[in-house]
Amino acid sequence: MRKLIYLVAGARPNFMKIAPIIRELNKWSDRIYFQLIHTGQHYDHDMSEVFFIELGVPPPDHHLECGGGSHAEQTAKIMLAFEQVCLQQRPDCVLVVGDVNSTLACSIVAKKLQVPVAHVEAGLRSGDIAMPEEINRLVTDSISDWFFCTERAGVENLVREGKPSKEVFHVGNVMVDNLLYQKQKLDIMPPNAFSTSVHKSRLGRYGVVTLHRPSNVDNSQELLNIVMALNAIAQNIPLVFTVHPRTGNKLKNLQTELSKNITILGPQPYMEFLNLWKDAAVVLTDSGGLQEETTALGVPCLTLRHNTERPITVEQGTNTLVGTDPVSIMQATLAVLERPTKRGMKPALWDGKAAERIVSQLSICLE
Ligand code: UD1
Repeated sequence: MRKLIYLVAGARPNFMKIAPIIRELNKWSDRIYFQLIHTGQHYDHDMSEVFFIELGVPPPDHHLECGGGSHAEQTAKIMLAFEQVCLQQRPDCVLVVGDVNSTLACSIVAKKLQVPVAHVEAGLRSGDIAMPEEINRLVTDSISDWFFCTERAGVENLVREGKPSKEVFHVGNVMVDNLLYQKQKLDIMPPNAFSTSVHKSRLGRYGVVTLHRPSNVDNSQELLNIVMALNAIAQNIPLVFTVHPRTGNKLKNLQTELSKNITILGPQPYMEFLNLWKDAAVVLTDSGGLQEETTALGVPCLTLRHNTERPITVEQGTNTLVGTDPVSIMQATLAVLERPTKRGMKPALWDGKAAERIVSQLSICLE
């Protein structure tokens, strides 16, 4: 009997992680079939639809339309809607990725219905329980059945937390699978296929900024500090800031202007953004995914956080944690611009084959 897997995606970074898994599952269609559930956590066209199209993710089989609201509202809406989908046609496994509210909501629903949960990107820990994503990671991992890890630290965390090591698999990074796949396509496209190329040729050498963590943008003082640092850096190098809707809303109410040397863009489609950051002199970010992607391509990355759940990007990659103090951000950026010190190496198994390993292991788990 063919096994049915529900794949859950809800927020922008989920779509990039699901895409390579879908490509791989398509090769196993005689043994496993899947249905894609879009929770609707991200609902703006620029945060959702555009990614489905360009990443080659098929239209979802179920769209739960649960975007917006507080964390509790969002999580509760997703749980209610996803439970109905699971009851309609009971899957053999629910596969969740990453650490967003959709990951948490759907893993709880599945587990309560006694459907096994596979967690891709399991075991990452920032140690900062004030981060909503850390809560999502801890809860999801506490009830998952099969754990697919991007790096050794994830495996070690899970084993330390008492998970049976035979259910914990170090498989590599599906975000990197997607990156390498899309980069290959990008490399044979003409630069004028992208609107971000206009900025590249206009600016020459430039840095790229992304920011969306609640701890950085919801608190006006923190955001003001970061904006001060960006304005100072922009005196040395032009910056391109792709603004997440959460951050856009907060910036509107901030009592300060961004420097004219900072180009503001809205959320970018995947390829447009890749075209931009892959050639940046430096990337300043608080994103989890971009810490990994910059490591995979060897682009210097400064992370505006005090911790990371992805330590391998610092230990082996191009990532440096610089915190949120404006002077530290500025000094670290100027140092990288003068002479990038970290050449970085590609972590083990970040080779574009993580989805292959995941699906092949899942087929064994599901027997
Ligand atoms: C979520 C994830 C975060 C991930 C990020 C990537 C959680 C807890 N956080 O954060 O881990 O790195 O996605 O983008 O799940 N909004 C829109 N349009 C949208 C989506 C969001 O306007 O399509 C605005 C809304 O004001 C919304 C706010 O952004 O309330 C926050 O959205 P939400 O999905 O709660 O979390 P993110 O900050 O996007």
